[in-house]
Amino acid sequence: MGKEQRRKLEKKRGGEMGEGTGKIGIEVERRRHHRYSVVRGILAVGLVSVVLVAGFGLGRLIGGVLWHPDYQGNEQGSSTLEEVSNRDDLGTGGSLQYKQEEVAVKSRQLAQEAMQKKVAEQERLAKEAQEREAAVRATTGKKLVALTFDDGPSAATTARLLDILKEKNAKATFFVVGTMAQRAPDLVKREEAEGHEVGSHTMAHASFTTMDAAAVQNEMKAADGMFQEILGHSAGLVRPPYGSLNQVTKENVGRPLVLWTVDPLDWKYRDAAGVRQRAVADSFDGAVILMHDIYPTTVDAVAGVIDDLRAQGYEFLTISEMARARGVTMVNGATYGSFRP
Ligand code: NI
Repeated sequence: MGKEQRRKLEKKRGGEMGEGTGKIGIEVERRRHHRYSVVRGILAVGLVSVVLVAGFGLGRLIGGVLWHPDYQGNEQGSSTLEEVSNRDDLGTGGSLQYKQEEVAVKSRQLAQEAMQKKVAEQERLAKEAQEREAAVRATTGKKLVALTFDDGPSAATTARLLDILKEKNAKATFFVVGTMAQRAPDLVKREEAEGHEVGSHTMAHASFTTMDAAAVQNEMKAADGMFQEILGHSAGLVRPPYGSLNQVTKENVGRPLVLWTVDPLDWKYRDAAGVRQRAVADSFDGAVILMHDIYPTTVDAVAGVIDDLRAQGYEFLTISEMARARGVTMVNGATYGSFRP
């Protein structure tokens, strides 16, 4: 490089830097380079530190989640939120902070899952209720009967009856006895889940006529608690045992009282053909048929009863559905044995 060229280049560089010309310009430029290098160095060290700290923290978090003995239970799905929250071996300092974050994350996940499940169940029930309402409206002008089953549920017979009702697509009403329901709560839940109505037949099948006002109220309270526990709500209808009731019952029971108008005497004559014949022969539009789901012979008769009545144009509704279909508003303490058009 010739002297002249070098001078020009130095002048050019100096000009670009906006600082004088020639050797002075180069010196200024060097100092600036040095300053930038120092700044870059500091930034680089800072960045590396941040990466190291973050990596260390992430490593501990992942390590805690994947390998800490506390979480083996979670991976096996056997540890509840309460168990995680209540543990007193959560450690101290940074470890405790990570644990708290994990518990918070787990808590949010569980809450979210519970909410999604609840919403899905509500949507399913709402959809079913809509379908059932449409079915009730569609019965206008049709012949209706209500099949009612008392004294259950029984582990030996009720599940088979529910299978038959499902297969025949017929809805019924179950007046369950509290002591029976407590022995087979899943059957009560199934009854309701499959679109049937569940009513109370008292806790222990005692006659209301033996009870004073306080006893009737206590009986209802006990039944409400039992239904609340199994179904999450109390029963809206009561069938008095033996159909026995008096003025005290009406004034204190606090629910509509459901009787019946067709009695095939299935509790007395344990023969399926006879039960079928009597139930069908005595039925009329709006009838309430009394049967008992605790007898195998009754369960044997039900498919035939449904087939025969359906052949005559009958539809099978629950008590509450039939009342709505017939425009009847059921009143507490009043008795209902049929819903004629
Ligand atoms: Ni009974």
